[in-house]
Amino acid sequence: MVIKGEISLSGDKSISHRSLMISALSQGVSRISNLSKGDDLISTYNCLESCGINLKRDDEDVVINGGKFVNPDLPLDCGNSGTTVRLLMGLLVGQGISATFTGDKSLLKRPMLRIIKPLELMGAKIEHNDGRLPIKINSKKLKGINYSSTIASAQIKSSILLAGLGSTRSIFYTEPFKSRDHTEKMLKNMGANISTQGLITTLRPLTKPLKSIQIKIPGDPSSAAFFAGAAALIPGSRIRINNVLNNPTRNAFFLVLKEMGVEINYLNKKIIQGENVADLEVYFGKLNSLKIKKRNVPNIIDEIPILAILATQAYGSTVIEGAEELRYKECDRIHAICSNLKKMNANILERDDGFIIEGPTELSGARVNTFGDHRIAMAFSIAGLISKESVILDNQDCVSISSPNFFQKLKKVTK
Ligand code: S3P
Repeated sequence: MVIKGEISLSGDKSISHRSLMISALSQGVSRISNLSKGDDLISTYNCLESCGINLKRDDEDVVINGGKFVNPDLPLDCGNSGTTVRLLMGLLVGQGISATFTGDKSLLKRPMLRIIKPLELMGAKIEHNDGRLPIKINSKKLKGINYSSTIASAQIKSSILLAGLGSTRSIFYTEPFKSRDHTEKMLKNMGANISTQGLITTLRPLTKPLKSIQIKIPGDPSSAAFFAGAAALIPGSRIRINNVLNNPTRNAFFLVLKEMGVEINYLNKKIIQGENVADLEVYFGKLNSLKIKKRNVPNIIDEIPILAILATQAYGSTVIEGAEELRYKECDRIHAICSNLKKMNANILERDDGFIIEGPTELSGARVNTFGDHRIAMAFSIAGLISKESVILDNQDCVSISSPNFFQKLKKVTK
């Protein structure tokens, strides 16, 4: 069996969330094409609708008539989506909205103080369940803030910036390492006075409403990583993934693949709405191990599950360190990766902030516990393509959080 052929993927999940939320704030009609088809986007769409925003599906596009937010009548159900709750909390606090946020059983466990604290420093009034959902925000006028985060998180940065859109004072945000910068890019494109110097982002108060956008969202590199990983692992494979977002804060996985010995070609490079895009050609490669340090983690955070599968086939020790944030994702991903790879006979050592994998080892089949996490399910589906016996996932459906068509697409390129 080989991985061969050509695919296109639905739009990047991070940009999709931001395009819905920020165009809801803008003046005029926005049209968004190739929105992520993931369930997380349905959560954002429904929450915005509950806040009085007029959104419509038009064939494959979403059309948004930006306008005024109203207090929702019912709690906002953010489902499984950390990005929905964290970014929307900032945005709605800035718009003077009172609302309650809730979510599924995974989201109820995730830490929210990282957002609550800076928003409170800006003057927000927030009731919460010991730093977790459900959370109630109450209408309050916001001040500016000069905030240094100890966590490199685009969700924290974006939440504060979106809150800042409703403040009459400036926002200064410093991050310890560079995290994804889609919010900054989109706000700039829509007319905000925002600039970044090194690790400091400055947002000045809006002097006029944000402009609406027409955007075709580039393919999601975090979804592309599973297909690229499959091709890299299986001898004789070659896949072309068209129109993939190639933003420097998101492409670390592909740079790492190259460093591990995989041939990757970038074709048709272009810039769409300030974002780099390219078609990627990825070939099978004999893999070498490598080390991921803390400063590189933010740009590969969502790709570490598939990187772990690749590491089991790489020669030498792959060391992932400084990745403690993985414990706070849709599940504790360090535990999920280590416990499942151990069942598959991989040579893996769990650490508080990551793991070490000694390779190559032949993987055996296993019943995999996905913990309901889409990226764990997809990573171990790829592991199942190279394991001696079958991999059986306890939950396949959870892939719909980011990629409802994952299995169909994988089938299409498996020859
Ligand atoms: C995201 C940022 C990352 C990432 C998540 C999406 C975003 O989280 O893991 O899947 O869209 O801002 P953190 O920024 O909290 O690490």
